Amino acid sequence: MRLILYLGKGGVGKTTLASATAARAAQLGKRTLVVSTDLAHSLADALDKPLASEPLQVGENLWAQEINVLEEMRAGWGKVQDYITSTLKKQGANEVAAEEMALIPGMDEVVALLNIHRQASSNGFDVVVVDAAPTGETVRLLSMPETFLWYANRLSGWRNVAFNAAKPLLKSFLPGVNVMEQLEKLNAQVATLRATLTDSSISSYRLVVNPEKMVIKEALRAETYLTLYGYPIDGVICNRVLPGVTGPGSETPPQDPLLRDMVMQQRGYYQQIHQTFDPLPVWDAPYRSREVIGAEALAQLATEIWGAEDPTKVFFQGSPQELVKRGDQYVLRLPLPHIELGKVIMTKKGDDLIVEVGNFKRDIALPAVLAPLDATVARMSGGALEITFEAPATSEVKR
Ligand SMILES: Nc1ncnc2c1ncn2[C@@H]1O[C@H](COP(=O)(O)OP(=O)(O)OP(=O)(O)O)[C@@H](O)[C@H]1O
Ligand SMILES: [Mg+2]
Repeated sequence: MRLILYLGKGGVGKTTLASATAARAAQLGKRTLVVSTDLAHSLADALDKPLASEPLQVGENLWAQEINVLEEMRAGWGKVQDYITSTLKKQGANEVAAEEMALIPGMDEVVALLNIHRQASSNGFDVVVVDAAPTGETVRLLSMPETFLWYANRLSGWRNVAFNAAKPLLKSFLPGVNVMEQLEKLNAQVATLRATLTDSSISSYRLVVNPEKMVIKEALRAETYLTLYGYPIDGVICNRVLPGVTGPGSETPPQDPLLRDMVMQQRGYYQQIHQTFDPLPVWDAPYRSREVIGAEALAQLATEIWGAEDPTKVFFQGSPQELVKRGDQYVLRLPLPHIELGKVIMTKKGDDLIVEVGNFKRDIALPAVLAPLDATVARMSGGALEITFEAPATSEVKR
């Protein structure tokens, strides 16, 4: 199974390129599903077919679905949530507090991702292409499995402590056994989901950009955040490239002054895109005079981008997080492109290393060998953050 997810700023062409990839994959004989997670769906408009919250067949080998994240959330988690709320209320918690305690942060996003994962594995799709909401929301969506696992593990941890210590008061505030069982089941599903989303042989994230300043900035940030969470990116699509920006005809600028101005501006950003995202492959998609609508036109666009090549292949596999031993020291290498060290905040707490970049935070469970060591040096090297760990200096106690 292949899972491909398109990310980018609002309006850059995510829906168009996600459906183009899916239409072409279906044409190449793959059983393909294209699914939208954006609340403001436009997949039905791109494919020019009415869609629903379940996958509907829209062509040979091609299915499409517009997930209703809120509906999914209620169906998948609502009962457990109600149960926790009512139990807490019976035990004397006030209504608002009970409802708040029953809310696991990011639950709706996790449920939507679980739905995609379930569809992908149970319906035997070869390819699932995700048409996502604009970058910020999608990065939040993708950071949720980890937040969820963190929260659920803490909850189970507290429960064990409470039971072992047999403190009736604390015990009474924790959810009942069957809720914990549900939570553990969900926890296992989310762990599998996260494993799939970070497996570069299955999942690829693609950044969509236009040759424009703000769009590029946002894509660079997205690249940093995705790598922070270990999500593999396999390419960048430079969409809406005007004729004359590159290739034949680019020696003679257009006559029309407005068009000439636009082409000149795109040229600068076009080059910047091809340079900054290196070593990721960058594909160009032409500016079309008309909107690209319907499976046939979409598949045609994909052929212009990838030629005869299968657009669902894994085009790039970067270096993942690694741990190397140098003498008595260990070095943890965490790829983090486009970032200066001053903007990274690191905190080591026992066997957890918390890395914060901008608004995003990743809690990395350190391998057992690193837990007792101190994090001593952090430096950026070749697009990666390298953190050195060594044994704490032993101080002699004088009497
Ligand atoms: N290469 C192109 N040439 C011409 N029009 C395009 C091209 N790519 C996308 N469009 C058009 O631009 C508009 C926005 O594209 P699209 O809906 O794919 O963007 P999006 O990133 O999904 O937007 P949103 O963030 O709102 O979901 C659509 O009308 C689409 O048909
Ligand atoms: Mg869209």
